[in-house]
Amino acid sequence: MTTFKTLTKPLLLLLLTIASAASSALSIGVNYGTLADNLPPPPQVAAFLKQRTYIDRVKLFSPDPALLRAFAGTGIAVTVTAANGDIPALARSPSAASAWVSANLLPFVPATNITRVAVGNEILATGDRVLISLLLRSMQSLSAAISAAGLHIQPNSGVFDAATGINYTNMFDAQMDAVYTAMKRLGYGDVDIVVAETGWPSAGDPDQTAVNVENAMSYNGNLIRHVSSGRGTPLMPNRRFETYIFALFNENLKPSTSERNFGLFKPDLTPVYDVGVLRQASGGGPTPTTTPTPAPKGGKKWCVARGDASASELQSNIDYACAHGADCKSIQSGGACYQPNTLLSHASYAMNSYYQISGLNDFDCDFAKTGLITTVDPRCQGVGGGCDDEGSEDRAELRCEQAVGGGF
Ligand SMILES: *[C@@H]1O[C@H](CO)[C@@H](O)[C@H](O)[C@H]1NC(C)=O
Ligand SMILES: *[C@@H]1O[C@H](CO)[C@@H](O)[C@H](O)[C@H]1NC(C)=O
Repeated sequence: MTTFKTLTKPLLLLLLTIASAASSALSIGVNYGTLADNLPPPPQVAAFLKQRTYIDRVKLFSPDPALLRAFAGTGIAVTVTAANGDIPALARSPSAASAWVSANLLPFVPATNITRVAVGNEILATGDRVLISLLLRSMQSLSAAISAAGLHIQPNSGVFDAATGINYTNMFDAQMDAVYTAMKRLGYGDVDIVVAETGWPSAGDPDQTAVNVENAMSYNGNLIRHVSSGRGTPLMPNRRFETYIFALFNENLKPSTSERNFGLFKPDLTPVYDVGVLRQASGGGPTPTTTPTPAPKGGKKWCVARGDASASELQSNIDYACAHGADCKSIQSGGACYQPNTLLSHASYAMNSYYQISGLNDFDCDFAKTGLITTVDPRCQGVGGGCDDEGSEDRAELRCEQAVGGGF
């Protein structure tokens, strides 16, 4: 099963103290990696996770201010990672540790719910003996700096592998128990364990035989059910492990095909496959849904932005609509409805798309009184392409010719 290890990027985090008990609801974390040039703006991602999915925690690979700010006010639990390169300084100098806390945590708490600091990424996989030897001290130093700043965040980081003698039916439990056994041997049998990265790619190179959508859906789907069940593992029964799937998005700038295809979502926020983390369009209910609902056929009503709406109102309407399932691919650069490239036109397109998929309720066009319901095809008013007398009969969806039937 060596391919498993490569594919699933196992990295187990060991907490220094016991974390608070998880609730009984579906709860899963994701790694929010950003090695891509086509991802939505962070505020849109945060709104999407909060409103459309059951994902309630994210792990960031660096303390990126834009990402940290994006999660302000969402309540989503955020883990930030101190870079491998910071470990030597953190380990050797308490002032470096407090500077790190001042720069990367204090500006963002408490608005952003930062609950953990991970120290380093795949440190043991680097094979760098100096770095490995400094890991524990850097954690201690950071922990002291965090306490001194009056915060209550737990830094944590990775451990290694060991063998057990139990008949495991899945590699996840086997790896978890391997960590448990190793820690127990060192005298830390009762520490909490966080799974910082686990996942399966939906596409790979031809020689990667087990890499496909079915296996990715199966691994990640079973994983979410397994960790949410609270069943635990053979050696750690009746426990829940905070778990972060790698990754939130397919990231197009990563080096190999499989690395580019670990995402649960595409950059346009549509799911790569149904793994059960999407909430129903109406919100609320616990039943996971597949993909956002397609635009219904309906009367000839459209939602457009009011001409007197401010730029920031228009932008926030776009962010909201796009985070709630509106077709926003079409108004991105190169998209079929990118022209005319004005905020008003883009906002109208997104707001209308949202209005259509939400079922043409008047309140779905309210947008804090900046939306307007109209019975005149907005394309005839220069929104989202030219006026087209045909084609507006079947459905009043604002669309451009190339966009028909595409995307959502
Ligand atoms: C922060 O996240 C934790 C873990 O999900 C949660 O229990 C807590 O309520 C959150 N805090 C806020 C202020 O939302
Ligand atoms: C391990 O468990 C599986 C499933 O219960 C069973 O089919 C298999 O025969 C067992 N293998 C061994 C070596 O006990």
